[in-house]
Amino acid sequence: MIAFVALLVSTLIIAPASAQLIGVCYGMQAANLPSPAEVVNLYRSNNIYRMRLYGPDQAVLQALANSGIRLLMDVPMTELQSLATSSSAAMDWVLSNVAAHWPSVTFRYIAVGNEAVPGDLAQHVLPAMRNVHSALVTAGLASHVKVSTSVGAEVLESSFPPSAGAFSTDASTFLSPIAAFLANTSSPLLVNAYPYFVYADNYAQVSLSYALMNETGTVVQDGEFAYTNLFDAMIDSVHAALKREGVQQLAVVVSESGWPTAGGYGASVLNAQTYIKNLIRHVGRGTPTSPGKLEAYINGMFDENLKSPEVERNFGLFKPNMEPIYPLNFVGDRPEFDGQSESIFSGNIRLIVSLHVPS
Ligand SMILES: *[C@@H]1O[C@H](CO)[C@@H](O)[C@H](O)[C@H]1NC(C)=O
Ligand SMILES: *[C@@H]1O[C@H](CO)[C@@H](O)[C@H](O)[C@H]1NC(C)=O
Repeated sequence: MIAFVALLVSTLIIAPASAQLIGVCYGMQAANLPSPAEVVNLYRSNNIYRMRLYGPDQAVLQALANSGIRLLMDVPMTELQSLATSSSAAMDWVLSNVAAHWPSVTFRYIAVGNEAVPGDLAQHVLPAMRNVHSALVTAGLASHVKVSTSVGAEVLESSFPPSAGAFSTDASTFLSPIAAFLANTSSPLLVNAYPYFVYADNYAQVSLSYALMNETGTVVQDGEFAYTNLFDAMIDSVHAALKREGVQQLAVVVSESGWPTAGGYGASVLNAQTYIKNLIRHVGRGTPTSPGKLEAYINGMFDENLKSPEVERNFGLFKPNMEPIYPLNFVGDRPEFDGQSESIFSGNIRLIVSLHVPS
């Protein structure tokens, strides 16, 4: 027994910290961004090996060839209706935007619509998901590329405490059959989760440290689960809402999260740096009701000067001239280390890891 305990402890100490499943959204609503090839190099030089791309931009897809970067790619909202109503339009879309670039571009997820549910286009989401999935089956790619849709916090009618999480009636009408389809195809639900906006809208009730994930004590005790941060509470309220729809164990991938450096209440470089640093570290642990690694995409790579309102322009990790807005200790997962416990820290952090300080 003593030998067993000793072995366990030494394993914990020598195991290198694992790389995190962290990506960054490549939003392009800016007039002054670098070329796609420069952007792809910037991802790689920062150990960022996952990207969300909001549509099949052919120049970006060409720049991604053989980069090792795995892709979450959106079907733009403008194409939902056509892909929902025509299986041949969906086949054409998959052939020219996915199959034509496979395998030199590694697609992981297709997001059929971004925050389309609930809303005027919500009725098209599931039919388009089915048609895109069938096209991927025909193209022989369905086991590699999962079809899903991205939802925002507005789908939840109740989110406090997390175990009371429930979709609104409007959202549930669409999400209930979507969740069944996702379970059937072993695909995750994509969720855009912004503790920042919850904090900015409720700063009298929500503490900054709870939103920034640097609170050490329990803030919310929900049955057996203790919450120290709002991010976990938000994700677990989605898990609870999915269970309420009768879908057990559906995975959630965070398709956007971030914190602005300017333009809103609580927006600052220090707060953004704190949140992103904590998010990168935190996703390796998952949430109280769903422990294990969580995959998450930071919004976004660049400040985007064509977005509005003002606060939306200031979510970037980099300025358009590719200077970092604050120092990054990025923990990416290079594809050659897939499935292995290997740390890919940059700079000083590598030194810290070799001294076995847990990340
Ligand atoms: C699940 O898949 C089966 C066959 O693979 C199919 O018959 C059924 O309709 C699917 N259900 C949903 C909700 O998509
Ligand atoms: C969390 O970080 C912010 C800086 O971004 C700081 O203002 C706050 O005091 C910190 N909270 C704790 C509990 O350390």
